[in-house]
Amino acid sequence: MKTIKVGLLGIGNVGSGTYLALEMNCAAIEKSAGVHVEIAKILNRRPEAKRAVDVPREKYTADPYEIINDPEIQIIAEVMGGIEPATTYMADALKAGKHVVTANKAALAVNGKQLQQLAMDNHVMLRFEASVGGGIPIINAVADPLVSNQYDEVLGILNGTTNYILTKMTENGADYADVLRDAQAKGFAEADPTGDVEGIDVANKLSILISLLFGKRILPQDIPTTGITSISGIDISYATEFGYKIKLIAHAQRTPEGLTYSVEPTLLPVSHPMAAVSNEFNAVFVRGNAVDELMFYGKGAGPLPTGSAVLGDIIDIANCIAKGAAFDVQPLLHYDSKMPSLGEGSAQYYMRMTAIDRPGILGHIASTFAKHDIGLQSVMQRAGDNDRKTSVPLIFICYTTERRILNEALNEIRADGYATSIDAVMRVQDR
Ligand SMILES: NC(=O)c1ccc[n+]([C@@H]2O[C@H](COP(=O)([O-])OP(=O)(O)OC[C@H]3O[C@@H](n4cnc5c(N)ncnc54)[C@H](OP(=O)(O)O)[C@@H]3O)[C@@H](O)[C@H]2O)c1
Repeated sequence: MKTIKVGLLGIGNVGSGTYLALEMNCAAIEKSAGVHVEIAKILNRRPEAKRAVDVPREKYTADPYEIINDPEIQIIAEVMGGIEPATTYMADALKAGKHVVTANKAALAVNGKQLQQLAMDNHVMLRFEASVGGGIPIINAVADPLVSNQYDEVLGILNGTTNYILTKMTENGADYADVLRDAQAKGFAEADPTGDVEGIDVANKLSILISLLFGKRILPQDIPTTGITSISGIDISYATEFGYKIKLIAHAQRTPEGLTYSVEPTLLPVSHPMAAVSNEFNAVFVRGNAVDELMFYGKGAGPLPTGSAVLGDIIDIANCIAKGAAFDVQPLLHYDSKMPSLGEGSAQYYMRMTAIDRPGILGHIASTFAKHDIGLQSVMQRAGDNDRKTSVPLIFICYTTERRILNEALNEIRADGYATSIDAVMRVQDR
């Protein structure tokens, strides 16, 4: 049986999970794939540190180029994270004729175009199943068995930490800060959770999905992104009354005018299949023009689920090498669509504001919305919900409108002094 040698760059969560998944399933892999995959060298800058897996010390090196330039190593799995030096190492590996597997959404979202070009120029493969949705096989599925589709829409719950926090806030009526502390204690949130709770991690993943599904290069920083830090328990309970759950949703949609996209807390109808995705689980929902609706569900993070995806890519490539298959039929990421990029576009919106408790105020606010051609689907006034008798919370759900126009109307309502504060504005997914 042919042995394919692999180099790992990094031995943290995902590196250890990849190593362990191979140890656990080595015999089954050999039987089904017909190749022996060996992790031959591992980049470890702290060889004395305790790692989650037992690795023979002679596999470790502190020099990445001992792996990148090793003529026996054919596949390199980059599981270090960060944009640099990971991008440079991947680029150098591709130039050295190595196939590259990566879990690194941050590097891929920004440098995927350059890396993919290098892979094509050097007739090697660049695979990145683990970069979006961890263990969920979304990338290879949309690129391979679903390639016959033109995609109309994608919705993703792509961050386990934020989904866990929102689930607990919904189930227990608990506040964001308390749930975050609990999530950190249970290992579902990092000590510094900024990248997760501010939506940055999800924007990286949406950027990759957009190039894959819609053929456009939208950098993460150009995706309108709102995290979950300002969601309050009161919005969750109002949403429940209206028949919705609040989830942090990555959304992109092909419209007649162009591509719309955002990462933001979104009210999903409880009947929507994505509304049932709870705790640390992730899901991706796509609408293809041939396959119609599809949903992928699973663990979006964790050493073994993510290691499973990394290893899957490694085995696929090893299989191609063993069979002498062509590598120049790439991929996956596309950047050639001429569709205009529209940002948030149009949607229904949920709004909560605090208004002066005076006769006629609700009418003034409704007529300001009407002036901007914004129709109101639901209106709720809850005098008893506010301690101060001089103000009252007003909750609206409007019909589909452009976010830009909604912002103009809200600015006018604020400037007219009808509302003392606009406390929440969230997208509502209508189907
Ligand atoms: N964790 C997940 O569940 C998950 C899911 C999907 C995708 N990913 C992606 O997978 C990648 C790895 O994540 P992770 O959670 O495994 O991170 P991690 O636990 O922090 O592990 C990173 C590893 O890379 C090493 N490393 C980092 N920078 C290095 C450098 N400049 N030189 C040498 N070694 C370096 C670290 O060494 P030290 O141990 O010495 O610091 C560590 O061994 C990231 O791109 C992440 O976004 C992670």
